[in-house]
Amino acid sequence: MAPISPEALSALPSGINLLEGRLFQANQMHEAFRVLRAEAPVHWNPGTDRFNGFWSLVKYEDILHVSKHPEIFISSKGIGGSGLRETPPGQSGGSSSIITMDPPRHVKMRRLVNKGFTPRAVLQLEPKIREITNTILNRIAHRDSCDFVLEVSSQLPLAVICGMMGLEEEHWPLMFDLTNQILGSGDAEYQARVAPDKVGTFEGATLTAADGNRRMNGFFREILEGRRIHPRDDDMVSILLESEVDGERLTEGDIVAFCNLLVVAGNETTRNAISGGLIALCEHAEERARLQDQPDLMPTAVEEILRWTSPLHHMTREATEDQVIRGTEIKAGEKVMMWYPSANRDEDIFDDPYHFDITRDPNDHLAFGFGEHFCLGAGFARAEVRIMFEELLRRFPDIRVTGEPERLRSNFINGVKHLPVTFTPER
Ligand code: HEM
Repeated sequence: MAPISPEALSALPSGINLLEGRLFQANQMHEAFRVLRAEAPVHWNPGTDRFNGFWSLVKYEDILHVSKHPEIFISSKGIGGSGLRETPPGQSGGSSSIITMDPPRHVKMRRLVNKGFTPRAVLQLEPKIREITNTILNRIAHRDSCDFVLEVSSQLPLAVICGMMGLEEEHWPLMFDLTNQILGSGDAEYQARVAPDKVGTFEGATLTAADGNRRMNGFFREILEGRRIHPRDDDMVSILLESEVDGERLTEGDIVAFCNLLVVAGNETTRNAISGGLIALCEHAEERARLQDQPDLMPTAVEEILRWTSPLHHMTREATEDQVIRGTEIKAGEKVMMWYPSANRDEDIFDDPYHFDITRDPNDHLAFGFGEHFCLGAGFARAEVRIMFEELLRRFPDIRVTGEPERLRSNFINGVKHLPVTFTPER
């Protein structure tokens, strides 16, 4: 089949622009993805004066193909968004973390922390995760309503990842704020630290993310200094301080970038799986009743929640050589964006994909990506979502959403910022 020109493709499903955060904030992306899967599965999304254009991949098999070839479709040129046409002064270079590293260095760096994320490590931490979950639920138990995101879903992943990194509890709220600032920089709510006339603008977003990263990295440089004076051996930061790759210690920049990634990746995604999971259960009363009658369905329910919510909208790769996908030519140097929510509703893979089915099996969703960069924290994320819903539905069986979820303006994170819920208080 002859390649279709970018111009012809972009003209096809008219009006679909996946750079537009509002499409995702309004939760209307699934309709756009459905059209793209049917009409333009390899779709050229034009850029703007600031952002590069990119190829959208919306079919499961194509996303799998790209994920299986990390030496051709690389991560080191950026994994979120399509990249700026011009890098702002002072923002080029610097250290990178595993998520923006390519083979062969990627796997060597990933091995340093792998031990902390094995199924065994997750199993060992389960009682602690349950204890933290119940402490969080105790705080709302005497009331009859709360903001589920601020008081429940955000608190568990925050406590788990900060605990693994050995951070004192007094620092956890800062980690929460900085994660929001970094990943939510396109949303006006998190642009509070910029001048009023910049709020809601592209410049506001750039300043917000840069400020968040600067503060996060500064915080971890101080933590490293503390660990050097008072060494510990029981947390991720200390493991990284002692680690070597190819006979060389990691630089301070490497360690800080690693810590930044762990906090950011460990926080926001799992939070949104929990918030999105509650929304899905409330919107599908029969499935919810089934789960409450048969709590042993929880493991498959968790997988369905992950498929349904797809907490990360996309990851980006850059082609290092010319490639043809579904007859469309992708040139070396061009960006491809893998849209996970679309893969997870692909009619060619999933039976009745728009049906939320807590017993779905098989359910090989791509919410955690695939291959070389498969989510390091998937085991913890699964355990956290499962334990949260086990305890939540046991203690607050009538919990329900009472208003519209306030969603994040982002084409990267499927975020819920606020979610009002009511429930019968515990006696
Ligand atoms: C429901 C929750 C989560 C979802 C949906 C999710 C999703 C993902 C996805 C799609 C990737 C692949 C990135 C790529 O291919 O470029 C990834 C990578 C990663 N995730 Fe997660 N994640 C979740 C929770 C977590 C948690 C709890 C942690 C840490 C405790 C974590 C740490 C990481 C790290 C370090 C990577 C980079 C792995 C690498 O590049 O080798 N994630 N995640």
